[in-house]
Amino acid sequence: MYNDNPTINDLKQPLDESKQGDVFYNEQMLTPQTGKKFYIESYGCAMNFSDSEIVASILAEVGYAPTKVMAESDLILINTCSIREKAEDNVRQRLRQFDKVKKEKPGTLIGVLGCMAERLKEKFLEQEKLVDIVAGPDAYRDLPKLVATAAGGEKGMNVFLSREETYADINPLRLDSNGIAAFISIMRGCDNMCSFCVVPYTRGRERSRNAFSIVAEATDLYKRGYKEVTLLGQNVDSFKWENPETKEVVNFAQLMEMVALVSPEMRVRFSTSHPKDITDEVLYTMKKYENICNYIHLPVQSGNSRILKKMNRTYDREWYMERVEKIYEIIPDCAISADIICGFCSETEEEHQDTLSMIEWANYTMSYMFFYSERPGTLAARKYPDDVPYDVKKRRLQEVVDLQMNISHKNNLKDIGKTFKVLIEGDSRKSDADFKGRTSQNKVLIFPKKDGLKPGDYAEVKVTGVTRATLIGELV
Ligand code: 5AD
Ligand code: SF4
Repeated sequence: MYNDNPTINDLKQPLDESKQGDVFYNEQMLTPQTGKKFYIESYGCAMNFSDSEIVASILAEVGYAPTKVMAESDLILINTCSIREKAEDNVRQRLRQFDKVKKEKPGTLIGVLGCMAERLKEKFLEQEKLVDIVAGPDAYRDLPKLVATAAGGEKGMNVFLSREETYADINPLRLDSNGIAAFISIMRGCDNMCSFCVVPYTRGRERSRNAFSIVAEATDLYKRGYKEVTLLGQNVDSFKWENPETKEVVNFAQLMEMVALVSPEMRVRFSTSHPKDITDEVLYTMKKYENICNYIHLPVQSGNSRILKKMNRTYDREWYMERVEKIYEIIPDCAISADIICGFCSETEEEHQDTLSMIEWANYTMSYMFFYSERPGTLAARKYPDDVPYDVKKRRLQEVVDLQMNISHKNNLKDIGKTFKVLIEGDSRKSDADFKGRTSQNKVLIFPKKDGLKPGDYAEVKVTGVTRATLIGELV
């Protein structure tokens, strides 16, 4: 499916309407009563949604309670994404709407967080006069101070990028939670320097979080009734944390095992994997634990080796294919999804065909597909002309989208007759007579409810049919 906001659809679990309002707030939180409220909106990747929960926790500590009603808030925050030009345009458009709220309620503070704040820094304050606060991804601990500065009538800005900050000690305040699935941020930043990508500039150097704090967070979630955690990082396979006391190093496979052992009843997912770093050890760990889901998001970006080199992905087509073969060999029922960029600098028709053939060969269950959007300051912007015409990019993207839809559909048809263990997430969007669950392979499965079953329970469901993007089934 074409989606300009890559990972959220997949990873952000939708709201369970019945729970809105009560799970919104983390019970253990002791909030000083200031009567102040903040409203926060997040754009971009799952990491951004996860960061907003850290921000919420920091603000709650100083007496700001979250609200879902923008008009009743004293502080409006927007956590932004810079990955493509369109993502930034969306944010600017949204800011126009905040402006109206501010006019109706003078004194409301507006803060811009995340990647766009980091990329544009003081330029943001010059360009968008209504903005009072600009805070980059590593500056959230400073927010109470920035808010105080802004309340005093000055602009508050902190875009300092840290080499250490992981917010390890902060217990995120779960916003919009269905009470069943949660994100756990395990590392920050990125050292990969893909030539098209702005992330290393907006999120800084890669650093891994204390492994024990990750396990403690997972354990706490389990005790509070959560049944699924998604370990998040730009490149989870390069997770590496050294215990300062014992000097022992924990890698990603070991971390995943530690989290899987919290409880066999709690599912573990992770995102995003980098083809150059995903090890056999990770795959064998997935195989060993039933509660580690058989799903890998493995962005390919392009199916052509020359383009991959130009993208600085540090693997080629053959390397990628070997990794995919290994995944299917070790975990035969594993689902793989990808990110794909169409029309990168100098991409020819033949090279585009290599991407199409890869989609078919790798048999992705789904993909996030984009056309190349030049980002200022990146290696590609400095070195390579953005020379594939817009119409050509669009047409190639459409071909990729059409093919992926076809492959996804075929893939779903093959599930008919099979039985899957699903984690029930809530009511189906279309009917409250049906539940919506998710298979280990991250596919949504809709099936009729039965007394005694509730969200958070597991159920064995046999697939009887498919619609465009979902499986339909019945309890066995
Ligand atoms: N243009 C288009 N897509 C991009 N992505 C990252 N940078 C760009 C860009 N400049 C895509 C990649 C990445 C996903 C999160 O967004 O496919 O994996
Ligand atoms: Fe967007 Fe990348 Fe920043 Fe996530 S890390 S918000 S995808 S620019």
